[in-house]
Amino acid sequence: MISAKLLVAGNWKMHGVRADLSQIEAVKTGVGRSTAVDVAIFLPAQLIESAARLADGSPLTIGAQDCHFKDSGAFTGDISAPMLRDAGARAVIVGHSERRTGHGETSKTVRAKAEAALRAGLRVIVCIGETKGERAAGLAESVCARQLTESVPDEGSPADIVIAYEPVWAIGSGMTPSPEDIGLMHKFLRESLHRRFKVSQEQRWRILYGGSVTPANASSIFSGSEVDGALVGGASLNASSFLAIIAAASEASKPKP
Ligand code: PGA
Repeated sequence: MISAKLLVAGNWKMHGVRADLSQIEAVKTGVGRSTAVDVAIFLPAQLIESAARLADGSPLTIGAQDCHFKDSGAFTGDISAPMLRDAGARAVIVGHSERRTGHGETSKTVRAKAEAALRAGLRVIVCIGETKGERAAGLAESVCARQLTESVPDEGSPADIVIAYEPVWAIGSGMTPSPEDIGLMHKFLRESLHRRFKVSQEQRWRILYGGSVTPANASSIFSGSEVDGALVGGASLNASSFLAIIAAASEASKPKP
């Protein structure tokens, strides 16, 4: 994923049955052969194989929303990174706040999952973000810095790991931080990554913003020079709203006169 390109990633969460593959088809058609921005859709596991087949030969990447930290074993109900890869996934999200909160996942677990994903040859989106209370207490940067350090494995690089900054209070709430606050956080996170991994300036580490991104606010979010794309939940379920966000990213990618 080393690329100056914006990445627009959809996270369907626990939504989608086979009839909804028509939305994937519509996104594929809408994207066409265009590679102006990178586009990925992270699906519930049972749709991955069919969606990967549908997207084959198109620039659309199909991914999963979570994986186990072991490659196989006695873990009833879990799914491993090699299984996802076998089904056609090429990327996986780890550390989403709904996993951290709803399933008690610590950053240590998230890091082990990211390591498993890398072993399986999947690219990874590592999610981090502060709660409303943490932001109000002035702790947003320190909380995110800690999650970042603890969740991103030492083997990671800008080629295979993308960070998604998703303030917990912005997810599904209709609220977003100001573009300035997003820019400040992304700059802070990028500097931390570049220091730790000794990454050169040319190898920009991609940092997405996530939380209530819609066709209405996408252009303003993408106009920030620190934003490398978006992780989109609700607005990715419908092909036309997702395509509108992709169009905003393409527009923002055009060289400025
Ligand atoms: P949302 O979700 O766009 O519905 O706020 C984003 C996410 O949780 O990744």
